[in-house]
Amino acid sequence: MNPRHLTLHQLRIFLAVAQHGSFARAAEALHLAPPTLSLQVKQLAQTVGQPLFEQIGKRIYLTAAGHALADACRDIEDRLQRLGEDMAALQGVERGRLRLAILTTAKYVVPKLLGGFCAAHPGIEVAMVVGNRETLVQRLAQNQDDLYVLGQPPEHLDVVCEAFADNPLVPIAPPGHPLTGVRAIPPQRLAQEPFILREPGSGTRLTTERFFAAHGARLRTRLEVGSNEAVKQTVAGGLGVAVLSAHTVAAELALGDLIALDVAGFPLLRRWQIVYPHGKRLSPAALAFKAWLRDHRPTAAVPSPSAAG
Ligand code: PGA
Repeated sequence: MNPRHLTLHQLRIFLAVAQHGSFARAAEALHLAPPTLSLQVKQLAQTVGQPLFEQIGKRIYLTAAGHALADACRDIEDRLQRLGEDMAALQGVERGRLRLAILTTAKYVVPKLLGGFCAAHPGIEVAMVVGNRETLVQRLAQNQDDLYVLGQPPEHLDVVCEAFADNPLVPIAPPGHPLTGVRAIPPQRLAQEPFILREPGSGTRLTTERFFAAHGARLRTRLEVGSNEAVKQTVAGGLGVAVLSAHTVAAELALGDLIALDVAGFPLLRRWQIVYPHGKRLSPAALAFKAWLRDHRPTAAVPSPSAAG
């Protein structure tokens, strides 16, 4: 293989296909026509002299050559990113780029803080991804963003974590639920109620399941839904109870669309952390945003359980 025949454009396309695990999704993300994308990957494979993907059933997988090329692409992307940061540093914080990845629970807080930050630094270009814990941990492992707002930091990754704000989890129910006003409900009793859970991979779900397992209780899952919004609607519709971040339900509790239950052991005290890979050189824009988050910490709204009636 002659590396001089590789183009950056081809490498970017290849990496997108590798990351999305699909030609169609990569084409969508890059706003390219699927045939253009396939042609570029085909030419790249010809230059490399080996197949880069193999198709098994409907899915595509990287071959050994594909894995080696993907690692090289990530190194190149990383180096170019650092070059961009060095250039931005030469121009100062006001011209930088900031790539954030935040938890679905933090989206009730961080975008508001970002608004203030952007107003103070109008020259900074910001991209923000919102995802569940699993998605963010994967992105962190691949060093795809500058800063992450995560809950429990992943144990298997070498990262720097700075606690930034409280993220208490609270049990919620529809108004008029029979447990309204009952004091210190045992966790085992709440576990008998039909539960609405977030999708697997959600940190909220993981914490909830661990709490009930530690109390020897198994949850009766009525429904699994993929967002905090959908959990709230389902609970408000009377299908069951749930445990969610207090930040996500403040408005519904204030309006009386949902109520908080008084369950022993709650709220589950969690903290959001600002996380980045150990050894990562943070850009001036990332450093400025980190400082902004610390200076504008939101206070957690732990709701008082609703009284009976
Ligand atoms: P998630 O958020 O449930 O969207 O993964 C987890 C958290 O707030 O820790």
